[in-house]
Amino acid sequence: MDAAEAGKARVASLIQDVEKSYDDEFQQLVHTLPKEEGWVSGSLYLYQGFWWSSLALKPMISFQTHFQAFDSDVIVVTFPKCGTTWLKALTFSTLYRDRFARDEHPLLASTPHQLVRHLEYDVYINNPCPDLENICVYKPRLLATHVPHASLPTSIKDSKCKIVYICRNPMDMFISLWLFSNKLRDENQESLSLDKVFDKFCRGIHILGPFFDHVLEYWNASQENPDKILFLKYEDLKEDMNSQLKHLAMFLGVPFTVDEERQGVVEEIANICSFEKLKELEVNNKGLHTSGVPHKDFFRKGKVGDWSNYLTPSMVERLEKLIQDKLDNSGLTFKFSSKISQDENVGFA
Ligand code: A3P
Repeated sequence: MDAAEAGKARVASLIQDVEKSYDDEFQQLVHTLPKEEGWVSGSLYLYQGFWWSSLALKPMISFQTHFQAFDSDVIVVTFPKCGTTWLKALTFSTLYRDRFARDEHPLLASTPHQLVRHLEYDVYINNPCPDLENICVYKPRLLATHVPHASLPTSIKDSKCKIVYICRNPMDMFISLWLFSNKLRDENQESLSLDKVFDKFCRGIHILGPFFDHVLEYWNASQENPDKILFLKYEDLKEDMNSQLKHLAMFLGVPFTVDEERQGVVEEIANICSFEKLKELEVNNKGLHTSGVPHKDFFRKGKVGDWSNYLTPSMVERLEKLIQDKLDNSGLTFKFSSKISQDENVGFA
């Protein structure tokens, strides 16, 4: 069985196991929740305004209930398919850069997801009260989640811990999610048609959807408290990695020194975390993540504007209107292609 087949089988069996592990109390909760067919196996449940997969719902509630944040924690929060893997690598490499020799970078031996553990898709998946003491390679703790802002554990919101958030233009995010979901669907399931899932996406029925609500919650919170939440965009990282990295380091309280800049440390971090570098590393081409996803499936094209190879003009029109409606007056804008002129910037700045 190759990694792709193993991944499909693992995801399906994990979802079944998790659903079987629902106790009576949890079953009762689940029965009260609106339910939709999932894009992979299992179902989507609407919990606190967002659609959760049957795999992640229970671990997410455990995380929400039991997690105690420290003031020193750094939490990477992302919308799925918006650059989670990339941001984990960048934050890890920036925060801990004085802990390892340059030629022994942990990313050479471990995937970004192994170095920065995901709370609901990994740490809490099989254990409602995991031992968080030894879960992070270094201190301060660096962890990751997709949880919407309103659903974060109160200790994350109330403590001084920092949140680094990344999102991406919704067209590229949607195409990435569609192709990723198709890879993980069970052998017995038909591929998801673009038409069908596009409509679901526009109606917010997808993992962690609605996309715009998730993004706007963090956008607004970051505007209110910029020392607590750093709001990043995938396209900005692609366009100007060096200044984004310096901004990230400053936010984390570990700014690059003049000496480090002279020695090219910023470029080294950008390089080891680049799509091309990570995609070719053996560690990212074998094995499965705790959630069953083959590690290599976290790397596809890594481009801005790939949506234009898939979306029809009428889809683009519908999405543009949605973006306009949702983001109007928010101050949040997205870039939709890598060589963008101000005019092509939909809505959008
Ligand atoms: P595409 O499917 O458009 O290629 P996530 O990590 O949140 O699951 O997001 C996955 C998306 O980020 C995929 O996008 C993947 O190729 C891209 N990606 C992964 N690692 C990256 C990196 N180091 N730099 C840029 N993009 C990356």
